[in-house]
Amino acid sequence: MPTARTIFEEIFDNDEAFRLFCSIAASDEAQGGWENGRIAALVPGSYQALAPKIARHGADEDKHGRIFDALLRKRGLEPVAVPPDADYTMRLEAAGIGLAHSLLRGDGKLTELDIVSYLAHSRVTEQRASEQMRALRRYARNRGDIGRAVRMISDDEDNHLAYCHEELLSLAKAGHQEFIKRTLRATALAEIAVYRDVSTAVMAHLGRILGWSRAKSALLAAGIQVVYVYERLFGWRRMVSLRMPSRRNALGGLQPAHRL
Ligand SMILES: [Fe+2]
Ligand SMILES: [Fe+2]
Repeated sequence: MPTARTIFEEIFDNDEAFRLFCSIAASDEAQGGWENGRIAALVPGSYQALAPKIARHGADEDKHGRIFDALLRKRGLEPVAVPPDADYTMRLEAAGIGLAHSLLRGDGKLTELDIVSYLAHSRVTEQRASEQMRALRRYARNRGDIGRAVRMISDDEDNHLAYCHEELLSLAKAGHQEFIKRTLRATALAEIAVYRDVSTAVMAHLGRILGWSRAKSALLAAGIQVVYVYERLFGWRRMVSLRMPSRRNALGGLQPAHRL
C-alpha cells in the first residue's frame, strides 16, 4: 500500500522523478516571487507600510526557488520545463484567483481591494505551502541537504502564513471584513479544486517516470479525490479562518531573506 512517505522515498531516490519534482517546486516558488515583487512595486500610497513586507515575502519565495534549483544542480541535474497541467500558480491565475498577471505586468498602482485580494489569496496558498512543507519536513528528515533545505523553507512558509493572518485581521478591523470573508471563501474553494487537478497531473507524470502499475496510479488518483471531497465538505474552513498569530510582524524588521 503506497503511503506519502513511500512515494517521497521513490521520488528522492530517482533522478528523473526528483528532477521533475524540484523543477515544479522551483518554478512555483519563482512565480510567487515574481508576483510578490510586482505587487510590492505597485502598492498604492495608502498601503506603503506594507510594501517592504510584500517585498520580503517575494524575496523569500525567490530564495526558495533558488534552493530547489540548487538541490537539482548538486545532484548534477538540470531543471526541466514544467508541464502546464502541473503548474499550480498558472492554473490558479487562469481560474481568476489572486491578481491577474496582466495587471501585475503593467505599471498602474493597485487599489486597496487589490491588496486585500492579494492577502486573501496568500492566506489560502500559504496555508497549503505551510502544510506541504511541514509534511515534506517529516519525510526528508534523514535526507541531508534536502532535509535542511526543506526545514528552512518550512519556517519561512509558517512566517508567511502568520503575516497573512495578521494583516488580514487588521484590514478586517479597518472595514473590509465582508470583502475579506467573501474573497477567502471563493479563493479557498477554487484552490482546493486546482490543488486536486495539479496533484492528479503531477502524480500521473511521476507515475510514468517511476513505472507505476495501473492499479497503483488508480489508487493514488482516488486518494487525491478523497482528499478533495473532504476539503470541499469540511477542510476548506481551515483556509478561511483568521487568528492572531503568536509570532507578530513575522515579515517585519530589517533582516533580509537569507541569501543562498
Ligand atoms: Fe515558498
Ligand atoms: Fe510562502
